[in-house]
Amino acid sequence: MSTTDPLAANRHWWDSTVPVHLASAFYDVEGWLADGRGPREREAALLGDVTGLDLVHLQCHFGKDTLSWARAGARVTGLDFSEPAISAARSLAERAGLADRADFVCAPVSEAVDALGGRTFDIVYVSLGALCWLASITEWAAQVAGLLHAGGRLFLHEVHPVSQALADADLTVVYPYFEEAVPYRDAEAGTYADPEATDALPGDPTYSWNHGIGEIIGALLAAGLRIDLVDEHDWTSFQRFPWLVQTGEEEFVVPDGHLRVPLSFTLVASRT
Ligand SMILES: C[S@@+](CC[C@H](N)C(=O)[O-])C[C@H]1O[C@@H](n2cnc3c(N)ncnc32)[C@H](O)[C@@H]1O
Repeated sequence: MSTTDPLAANRHWWDSTVPVHLASAFYDVEGWLADGRGPREREAALLGDVTGLDLVHLQCHFGKDTLSWARAGARVTGLDFSEPAISAARSLAERAGLADRADFVCAPVSEAVDALGGRTFDIVYVSLGALCWLASITEWAAQVAGLLHAGGRLFLHEVHPVSQALADADLTVVYPYFEEAVPYRDAEAGTYADPEATDALPGDPTYSWNHGIGEIIGALLAAGLRIDLVDEHDWTSFQRFPWLVQTGEEEFVVPDGHLRVPLSFTLVASRT
């Protein structure tokens, strides 16, 4: 596919990832179905008991993380702009026996409030590889604020924008740290979940944007949210750089003797 419309190009690429990701060892869907696993421990510890709470997951992909929160007792809604992802999420909800408390909606994040009919939630959940697909962090923050009722919380765990700006090999700055009007164009074959899947993903272009920590916090404050927690981590959940060392399930760190750089961050904000 050849298009210079970033949203259309990104949607095409994400549509193509769905069957590859469903079959990948990275996402291990069959293992997740079999073991009944809930949300990541760190996330569950921060959000506390979610039983009976309404949670919306923005950019939910095929719903594995969304449904993990349903397993913890939340009523969940997942939103993604990819039809194949939403269709796969609905099937996964059926297979996991969670369809009675899971709803999936196909829409871009920029239209989330309207697509969800003005509904508001206790929790907006966003994680890992989501913000880089959005052109405007200000627009995103306004949608997040519009999805929360008073007392509702945003939970964000993301790849750190400093690590997004660095070269894989030597940590030199090779990509923008701040949000730029012009997106970064990538055309690598394969996907992070399966670099060998070059037949299904032959290198159609994608477009992404970085957003600095101050830009993210500033946009949420400007949207009227209170910032409750910002924590920059020297670990991340995936092999962001080839030289990171795996120290646990979904935990990769800088090896001894190397400069520690921020690899991911967690932010909690609330609507007062
Ligand atoms: C890496 S996934 C993030 C979800 C989760 N961390 C995971 O791995 O399942 C990124 C998701 O963002 C979605 N996406 C990208 N741009 C979007 C947009 N503008 N509006 C809605 N969804 C978008 C893609 O379809 C994809 O499912």
